[in-house]
Amino acid sequence: MPAPSHPVPFTFGLWTVGWSAQDPFGDATRDPVDPVESVHRLAGLGASGVTFHDDDLVPFGASAADRDAVISRFRQALDETGMGVPMVTTNTFTHPVFKDGALTSNDRQVRRLALRKVLRQVELGAELGARTLVMWGGREGTEYDGAKDHHAALARYVEGVDCVAAHIKEQGYDMRIALEPKPNEPRADILLPTVGHALAFIAMLEHGDIVGVNPEVGHEQMAGLNFTAGIAQALWAGKLFHLDLNGQHGPRFDQDLVFGHGDLISAFFTVDLLENGFPGGGPRYDGPRHFDYKPPRTEDMDGVWASAAANMETYTLLAERARAFRADPATAQAMSDSGIGELAQPTLDEGETVASLLDSEDLGREISEQADRLATRGYGHVQLQQLALRHLLGAA
Ligand code: GCO
Ligand code: MN
Ligand code: MN
Repeated sequence: MPAPSHPVPFTFGLWTVGWSAQDPFGDATRDPVDPVESVHRLAGLGASGVTFHDDDLVPFGASAADRDAVISRFRQALDETGMGVPMVTTNTFTHPVFKDGALTSNDRQVRRLALRKVLRQVELGAELGARTLVMWGGREGTEYDGAKDHHAALARYVEGVDCVAAHIKEQGYDMRIALEPKPNEPRADILLPTVGHALAFIAMLEHGDIVGVNPEVGHEQMAGLNFTAGIAQALWAGKLFHLDLNGQHGPRFDQDLVFGHGDLISAFFTVDLLENGFPGGGPRYDGPRHFDYKPPRTEDMDGVWASAAANMETYTLLAERARAFRADPATAQAMSDSGIGELAQPTLDEGETVASLLDSEDLGREISEQADRLATRGYGHVQLQQLALRHLLGAA
């Protein structure tokens, strides 16, 4: 098979390939990876950038001199490889100080410390040209319903995000914030558990114009939700600022598998939406295809780099299949049979009023007769899905 080309910008978190695979039940199975090596390796595999939490690059508590040295070595690797840093994020979950949350900790001193940590990472991100700040509030939540005043917690969350957004604006940085939803893990219940919750939260912000979402495949699927439908609504709302691609098998612990190694047909339709857009047109996603996965604990370092390549290969293969699916005349026919195009047509005629819609001698009889007639229609959705499956399997 010819090597897949990489027509789209692929990016990886340093914490993905760099994960040494410790879990709640077992010790690390791999040594930590030098971020400089990750930059070189990922560039060699065809990626165009890396992303990182503050602590992935500069160890927590490093002196100012050590920090400068680490950053300048990292910059040199970026320069040598041409890799970019399109997104940065902040670790507000590992240190024990964040055990009851960061921006929503019950302890005001912790909230102030968390805010300083985030603002410091905004500065570094701006220096490196990052255009997105991801905020994943992994510890913003509870184990017990009585442990937090949710009204106050959401007020503090809004205050924290608005404070960061206002700072970005004041400094004139070309940067936007993307909130990352997750239903649980590490907390039993995390605030902003789904894309829908995050979109509703953004509507309450003063500086919501520069705040959107960073949905992750596995996080929506952990909640039993449809990831493609989630990013579709975020796109429709003009809020899909970034995304985290990976794999997951339904509601269970956060697996962070290689993209496509979970629900493959869902991954196909995700790529179809990202690469081909809505069938009837509409907003498109043009940001990085960012992988946030964990090379399984079973893999040695060769397996780690192979797993990074697998993410990009799977995406590229799905993009080819999705293009062929859309270009197939049989698809156009099946979509038309399904009424996909008809949905783009407004339900009321231009200038039509509710009064004219209700105008009838016997509205009840008309509705029931019309319903009996329309109910017999077949929508052919199975045929359309089977066509997609054939393309996915390379059988069309
Ligand atoms: C997870 C999360 C994290 C965040 C990352 C960004 O798998 O629980 O995806 O990996 O994306 O920490 O802050
Ligand atoms: Mn993520
Ligand atoms: Mn995850």
